[in-house]
Amino acid sequence: MNMYDLIVRKKRGGALTKEEIDWMIRNYTSGKIPDYQMSAMMMAICFVGMTDEETKDLTLAMAHSGDVLDLSAIHGIKVDKHSTGGVGDKTSLVLAPLVASLGVPVAKMSGRGLGHTGGTIDKLESFSGFSTSLSPEEFIRNVNQIHIAIAGQTANLAPADKKLYALRDVTGTVDQMSLIASSIMSKKLASGADAIVLDVKTGDGAFMKELSDARALAREMVSIGTLAGKDVTAVISDMDQPLGYAVGNALEVKEAIDTLKGQGPADLRELVLVLGTYMAVKAGAAADPETARKLLEESLDSGKAFSVFRQFIQAQGGNPSQADQPELLPLAPYQEEVPSPAGGYISDIHTEEIGRICLLLGGGRRTKESPIDLSVGIVLKKKKGDKAAPGEALAVIHASDASLLPEASRRLAAAYEFSPDPQQDIPLIKEIIDSGR
Ligand code: URA
Repeated sequence: MNMYDLIVRKKRGGALTKEEIDWMIRNYTSGKIPDYQMSAMMMAICFVGMTDEETKDLTLAMAHSGDVLDLSAIHGIKVDKHSTGGVGDKTSLVLAPLVASLGVPVAKMSGRGLGHTGGTIDKLESFSGFSTSLSPEEFIRNVNQIHIAIAGQTANLAPADKKLYALRDVTGTVDQMSLIASSIMSKKLASGADAIVLDVKTGDGAFMKELSDARALAREMVSIGTLAGKDVTAVISDMDQPLGYAVGNALEVKEAIDTLKGQGPADLRELVLVLGTYMAVKAGAAADPETARKLLEESLDSGKAFSVFRQFIQAQGGNPSQADQPELLPLAPYQEEVPSPAGGYISDIHTEEIGRICLLLGGGRRTKESPIDLSVGIVLKKKKGDKAAPGEALAVIHASDASLLPEASRRLAAAYEFSPDPQQDIPLIKEIIDSGR
């Protein structure tokens, strides 16, 4: 087999066989297929797509490109969660310790920032010393002891996705349904959880801008997971504005800490409660959704969820005093308000652009090797439906490089749209797709 022929076939709209996909993933993971050929293949897939059969074969090839964790040493039904990616999406930071606080084993595998969206691992690295490079033994021990562990892909879990993820991040090849489905589900299958809750984002800040595409992605992932014997639910949620107010790694950690202490933005809290309810019921921690939600609310409001978060940071090498005193987290030296260029009700926020402004400030990667600045980002002051007077602050930019402020400020003001009329609330949860088990 040769990669050149496969690229040309895919470019012309042909399908790849299971053997070809297995060969391609095996040889890319081992370094025999170079990045430039894989980039061409990813771009061809972006243009012509993959069949359901190819997507399933790609997922399984990536899931088996390294170790598949055997979590049978963990007692109980292990749950995992994954988001398809959004702007200001700090859900996992709150959700994982919250669900663990009910005694549910949360065995989670996370990723780094991708394209204009942030990643849980980058966010967690705002805590000095924090590591997601857990050996399988450490991962299992932590879940058994404190009910939660979050690993990156360093423990030889789905290494093909690790390489492809970093490549897609910098080659404009993220927003393709089969590539997203296989990336997410390969990690979920390799990390061995019994039940998986997927947060499929839709809207301007998501990779799937249209609800119909988000629905197709959700169905594809639920179907792959079900075939592999997992209990999977996909919640389709709104990403037509950032989740919460903070966008940027350490800024999002601070907002997550507020939420874990029973404060925090209403949309983030609601999303966490909806996803958490599914996770708790699947794991058998509550008999029905109403009881699960009540237990989760109590845990947020009593500080129980926060105390599990603190333990989790410490167990993975992070400094827990930064959780107690979030002002010790990385803080950018420059903070500048963005005045509203107009008056009226906010009718739209160009959410992908907010994510891109965060990248401009240094909050994401431009090349596979570039470091990220954990301190930078944006804190919105106004969201959809809010009223703004001309000159009133729309947002505050946090920057490490003052020379970036004028461009960031101009683009941020232009990302807001105004209407003279009050706006209707947009539903946060759009649809639920379940494996029906
Ligand atoms: N999250 C992932 O893990 N992979 C993608 O491709 C998109 C979001």
